[in-house]
Amino acid sequence: MLEIKNITVRYKNSDKPAVENFSLNIKQGEICCLVGESGSGKTSVIRAVLGNLPGQGTVTQGDILFEGQSLLDNTGNDWRRIRGTEISMIFQDSGAMMNPVRTIGSQFVEYIREHGAYTRREAWKKGVQMLKNVRLPDGEHIMNRYPFQLSGGMKQRVGIAFAMFFRPKLLLADEPTSALDVTTQAQIVGEMMKLREDYGTGIIMITHNLALAAYMSDRILIMKDGRVTDSGNRDHILHHSQADYTKKLLAAVPPAGGSYHV
Ligand SMILES: Nc1ncnc2c1ncn2[C@@H]1O[C@H](COP(=O)(O)OP(=O)(O)OP(=O)(O)O)[C@@H](O)[C@H]1O
Ligand SMILES: [Mg+2]
Repeated sequence: MLEIKNITVRYKNSDKPAVENFSLNIKQGEICCLVGESGSGKTSVIRAVLGNLPGQGTVTQGDILFEGQSLLDNTGNDWRRIRGTEISMIFQDSGAMMNPVRTIGSQFVEYIREHGAYTRREAWKKGVQMLKNVRLPDGEHIMNRYPFQLSGGMKQRVGIAFAMFFRPKLLLADEPTSALDVTTQAQIVGEMMKLREDYGTGIIMITHNLALAAYMSDRILIMKDGRVTDSGNRDHILHHSQADYTKKLLAAVPPAGGSYHV
């Protein structure tokens, strides 16, 4: 479904590439985690996929194919068609992406109608249903709230409900749980894994937490200084890796693996 082929990402004001020779294939229903220290290039990879690198960032080498078509050739119109429907993103802080002075419902209805042919009433009903799907049972109530009236975990669920509404084939998530307490974190991760079960969504998730990556992913890529230093399935990374940096990261995981049992 997604083929990232040997890409290099550069920002204008820096001689050193932010990402170098990065490749990754994602099949339907596959979950891959990118793990690595701050500045290793994780966000640059997924923003390159979504065609919105910050600043003056560009993909200077390689190609990114989605369903066989290069995303690098996309026009603004192509992106408007794909983003939010075929490829969606969950941010670290969904609340920050919402308009603080408008209710969740008014923003959700607008988002749904922007991408699909629904009446206001239909969009509202479907929005409420989607909130139920991400275990916000009192959807009507949530729709009538303002972002500041919801907890961080609730806002993250609303963000997932937005991102999943059109059942995208690919979901990109940049540290979607790092601002949450461990219990809520585990629930949100559970929701994401359920999306894969229910809809066959392919997921690329960024996390600092190797235990979390091991818990949820089919494949893990370890990054450092813009390069992939190690990759493999959970068993390989946890038990058979020969890479020094992976061993260092593993040594930093608390023995009980936090709330995730490695
Ligand atoms: N807008 C930008 N302009 C210039 N350089 C940037 C920009 N964004 C990122 N970089 C550089 O690209 C490199 C990779 O950054 P990136 O944000 O992709 O890393 P990251 O792994 O997501 O880090 P973090 O864990 O802190 O989010 C870093 O050296 C960073 O300084
Ligand atoms: Mg980042």
